Parts: sequence; C-alpha cells; structure tokens
Amino acid sequence: MSDIKTLAIEKLNELNPEYPELIEDIVVANKKIYLSLKTDKAKVDKFTKIKLQIEKELAAIDGIDSVSVSLTSHSDAIQAKAIPQENASGVSEVRNIISVASGKGGVGKSTTSINLAIAINQLGFSVGLLDADVYGPSIPKLVGDRQKPKKSKAGKILPIKKYNISLMSIGFLVPEDSPMIWRGPMVISAVNQMLNDVEWGKLDYLVVDMPPGTGDVQLTMAQRVPMSGAVIVSTPQDLALIDARKGIEMFKKVNIPILGIIENMSTFICPNCKNESHIFGFEGAKLEANNQKVDFLGDIPLEIDLRECSDNGKPIILSKTDSVVSKKFLEIAKSVTKKVGDESSSSKPNIIIN
Ligand SMILES: Nc1ncnc2c1ncn2[C@@H]1O[C@H](COP(=O)(O)OP(=O)(O)OP(=O)(O)O)[C@@H](O)[C@H]1O
Ligand SMILES: [Mg+2]
Repeated sequence: MSDIKTLAIEKLNELNPEYPELIEDIVVANKKIYLSLKTDKAKVDKFTKIKLQIEKELAAIDGIDSVSVSLTSHSDAIQAKAIPQENASGVSEVRNIISVASGKGGVGKSTTSINLAIAINQLGFSVGLLDADVYGPSIPKLVGDRQKPKKSKAGKILPIKKYNISLMSIGFLVPEDSPMIWRGPMVISAVNQMLNDVEWGKLDYLVVDMPPGTGDVQLTMAQRVPMSGAVIVSTPQDLALIDARKGIEMFKKVNIPILGIIENMSTFICPNCKNESHIFGFEGAKLEANNQKVDFLGDIPLEIDLRECSDNGKPIILSKTDSVVSKKFLEIAKSVTKKVGDESSSSKPNIIIN
C-alpha cells in the first residue's frame, strides 16, 4: 500500500510539481486512495478542476479502484460546503435521510440506528443504513456480517443487504482491527464516497449513524448529507445532556430539523428482584426535550437482552419481537415516519431471526 502512496505522489509530481506540496493527507486503503489537498478558498473553481484531474489520473494506477480527493481550507473548516458537491448521485433516489446523533459517545446511537432502521422497514418502508462513524464503525458488528461489498456493472459499490436493510460502513471495506488514523478532511471524503459511490437505489429512508462529537467533522458531515431531520439520543445523565444540547445546536446551525430526543438507558429493572433503578438519572432527556422545545420520541430501558442481541449481531427488534424494547423502537419508528410526513405502508416485510 505504501508503494501505491509513493507512486501516487510521483504521479502528482509529474502532473504538476506544485501538487505534492498541496497534499495535506493521503491514505490508501482497500484499493482506494483518499487524498486531501490544501485549498485556496478564493480559487474554488481552479481547485475543483485540479481535484477532478487528480481523481482521473490516480484512478489509472494499477490496483486502484477509486480515488476521492477532498479540498480543505484551514481558515474555514466549514469551507467544504462551498465546494460544489458533485450531486449526491448515490442518494438521489432516497426520499428521506435521517441522522441519529448525540454529542456524547457511547449513549446508544448505533444501537438505536440499527433497531430504528429495521423498525421503519417493519412499517413497510424500504430502508438503508449508512454508518458515518468512520473511526469507530459499529454496524458490521451489530448485524454480525463483515462480507466485502461487490461492485455494480456501472462500477459503483453495492450496499450489503442484511435483515432487509441496505447497509454501508467503512467497516465492510477495511479489516476490523486496522486503526483509522485519518484527519478530518479524509473522514469527510470517506463519507462522501459512501454517499456518492454507493448504489443506494430507491429508498424511502436512509438512516445515518453519526459519530460522537460536535466538531468540524460532524458539522461538515451534517451539511454534506442532505438530511430531512435528526434524532438525538441521550441518556438521562446531566453529562450526556450537555453534549446532547450541543448536538441539537449543531443541527440547528445547519437548519436540519430535530425530529426529537430518545432517552436511552432510562431505567433498569433488575431481572432478579424486579426493582427499578435509575442508573443514569430519571427523565433527564424528557425534561431536556421540553426545555429545547423539541419532541420526546420515547425511552429505551437499560436492558441486558438488548446488549446481548447487539453483541451477537442479531438486533433485538428481530430476535425478541415481543420485548418491551422492540415495541418501543417500533413506536419511535412510527413517530419518526409520521413526523417526516409518511404514513405506514401496508406491505409488511416478515423477517424473524431464531
Ligand atoms: N438500552 C441499552 N441497554 C443495554 N445496553 C445498551 C443500551 N443501549 C446501548 N447499549 C450498549 O452500550 C454500548 C454503547 O452503545 P452504542 O455503540 O450503540 O453507542 P454509540 O452512541 O453508538 O457509541 P459511539 O459514540 O462509540 O459510536 C454498546 O455495548 C451497546 O450494546
Ligand atoms: Mg456508534
């Protein structure tokens, strides 16, 4: 791989000796080159041409399937938006894109994303799930599948089909234990590729599992993905709520409607003594929803079954259909689809995992 990196830099040098100096970061992974170039904000047109030229030239390198060049400007981290997003072709037939986010890590975004995606599918809609967490992709583990995506005749990446959902995650493209040491622009470029170079096809919904945090990467991503709305996940704990508030602010900044807040890990019923405990506090997210004047979409208890099903790659909504948690996810899916103006379709898919 490092040879390809050297070869790519040599090629850039041949094209124009000034090009190598523009390189901010270059990563070669799974037959793909991700390159970020320092850009002069005032010369967007010129740099867009350079980007297209480099993408074309480097794609000709033996053993390389595709090249993704992102342009960055340090004076303005949100500059990415100013660069024409050569139409999000991969998602042009997707009716609604919904992101699942929170400022804080580990509060249950990925768990919510997969179960919500399947729940929306159970309402009769066609659904995809995009894992935008490039540093810590969780979706392959949550669906118990690491098969490599295939390519379509047109050369696009075909999403993995599992549990009747179309899935894409960087985790399907790189080995599980290889660390993602990417800088911000590279992350955006990877997400762009999962939006544009994946043949999502016709979908009613694309659920986006967002990475934790509300930094420039998340903000740029929120701008890049043409979203219909965001679902915020939080535990009732003050610490998580502070970050959830930041998440809400971030989406407001880029004019993405907040569809509501889900309180995860809200209560715990001891399987032995049946006593209820509020490990992370009580109704904090519900109160926050009220304060922020956004809808409260529901609460999901802290549940051993949920964690176990997730770890086994068999989402609870399919493997324990009668559980309280599954019913709650289904109710949340109904609220979410209703909020974006969709009524349930009558054709229910029928998948059950044993
Ligand atoms: N309601 C719940 N009951 C029990 N375990 C849960 C619940 N929600 C999430 N978990 C567990 O908590 C851990 C973190 O969940 P998850 O990965 O969904 O969080 P995340 O917000 O996506 O994290 P990250 O910020 O790292 O992407 C996982 O092990 C998951 O199985
Ligand atoms: Mg996650």
